[in-house]
Amino acid sequence: MLSSKIGGIGFYVPEKVVTNHDLAKVMDTSDEWIQERTGIVERRYAERHKETTSTMGAAAAKIAIERAGITAKDVDFIIFATLSPDYYFPGSGVLLQRQMGMNGIGALDIRNQCSGFVYGLSIADQFVKSGMYKNVLLVGAEFHSCGLDFSTRGRNVTVIFGDGAGAVVIQPTEEEGKGILSTHLHADGDGAEKLAYMNPGSHAGVHVGTEKYGYPEQEFGGMFFTPKMFEDEDFFPNMEGQAVFKFAVQKFPEVIMEALESNGYKPSDLDLFVPHQANLRISQFVQARMGIPDDKVWNNIQKYGNTTAASIPIALCEAWEAGKVKEGDLVCLAAFGSGFTWGSALIRW
Ligand code: ACO
Repeated sequence: MLSSKIGGIGFYVPEKVVTNHDLAKVMDTSDEWIQERTGIVERRYAERHKETTSTMGAAAAKIAIERAGITAKDVDFIIFATLSPDYYFPGSGVLLQRQMGMNGIGALDIRNQCSGFVYGLSIADQFVKSGMYKNVLLVGAEFHSCGLDFSTRGRNVTVIFGDGAGAVVIQPTEEEGKGILSTHLHADGDGAEKLAYMNPGSHAGVHVGTEKYGYPEQEFGGMFFTPKMFEDEDFFPNMEGQAVFKFAVQKFPEVIMEALESNGYKPSDLDLFVPHQANLRISQFVQARMGIPDDKVWNNIQKYGNTTAASIPIALCEAWEAGKVKEGDLVCLAAFGSGFTWGSALIRW
């Protein structure tokens, strides 16, 4: 039976390095607090007015396409995962398509936040396994730094996130037992507002936790943007950090075990575990719970912060470039994020 594999992988991070000390100059925080709670030392910020989510995605995609041994003309479908798109609509997929001269093929944007890459991988896997497409370009990219609150009020969220992009090309393989063995996707909408960026949106204060906006009564318009929203500067992401932490450390091990058990493996069979880079403390907790040794886990949040949909492909690509992903290796990817959403993928490289 036809399977799918990662045929090429690439990543791009902007040049500008922003350290914890840099953030401490604009908000009440410290290098010590950030490192102790998150493990993050520095992150990258994209260059305003020059880079966008889709340009970073295209930079990563070019590398992935070249490494897959194809050209942009051979790509037959695009999946773009991001929570920080260039425009509210249309999605960044079509913008990347225009930049790369791939017009005419389908472009799908998905909004599954930190789980976006794993969700996208699952979609690409189904398309390729079914024989519908031969070269699916999957991109995860984020431009967080343009949408964060750099006052002390936003410090619990702002210090965590960074910008960047990762991309893979998913291709068919007939090699027995190789490629993407399985993917596992989950969500629980009860946690939707615990990590969210709600404005602009159509909620108009009707959902749990949003009554505070006090939208004026008016029959038409005025819902996406209201003067009150600007008055209150209510256009930043919010996060209940401890609730996210608790749910994450429960769901990560569950979904990793789901991937392993459905293929008849146990944690000790893994050659490499690449977790979504949410927070180093979450990764370490999960690693300890699963009994995975340090040399079988790839973490790079120290350098890049949490890059949401881009974090797994960036980490996987770095690991691959460092020679940590070899032919025949068993690799597990796992993610958890806003939604809540979570998922995993098991790959025989
Ligand atoms: N610098 C200094 N102090 C801070 C900062 C900061 N950056 N942020 C919060 N604080 C303060 C708070 O104001 C609070 O002060 P108070 O006690 O005077 O009220 C104190 O630190 C403790 O705040 P908590 O929010 O309880 O801090 P906590 O120990 O939970 O750490 C953190 C916060 C790091 C966000 C943690 O909850 C966490 O990592 N949660 C998971 C978040 C995460 O991983 N999100 C991303 C995953 S999903 C995705 O990737 C989209």
